[in-house]
Amino acid sequence: MTKLPTRSPTHEDVPIGRLSSMGLELEEIADDEVVAIDALAELAEDRGRPASHYLAAVSLATDLKVGPDAVTSVRVCVGTCQRYGALDMLDHLVTRWGKSGGFVIAPVSCLDQCDKAPACEIHGPHGKLVLAPTTAAGLDEALDSLTS
Ligand code: FES
Repeated sequence: MTKLPTRSPTHEDVPIGRLSSMGLELEEIADDEVVAIDALAELAEDRGRPASHYLAAVSLATDLKVGPDAVTSVRVCVGTCQRYGALDMLDHLVTRWGKSGGFVIAPVSCLDQCDKAPACEIHGPHGKLVLAPTTAAGLDEALDSLTS
């Protein structure tokens, strides 16, 4: 992490202790170090928690990755970017994935765009597209053109 945005944070981090316990729950449903996004979303719904919290736990509290794999991968920073709305971006992506799929969500701890939080990168046959700061509309626009 280098710099922070000059604007004030709008969100709070999920406490690391809570992420750790969610990480243990994820390890129980993982298969070969991969947690399926639909299983993660179902677990989140059962527990009454946002799917984004479990996705943050994947990166910050486990060695797991999210599946199933896809040629297009959306890397979402869940480090300090949490304080600037990164978890909202993740929940948006989970909803979108549930409707049309076509990509895999890859939560990561930093993308080196800390001063432009929340940061995402879309990787695929097109190369790498950096979205920072990310908005739900920006993600939709990018995924519409890159995954259709
Ligand atoms: S904390 Fe560095 S890009 Fe999010």
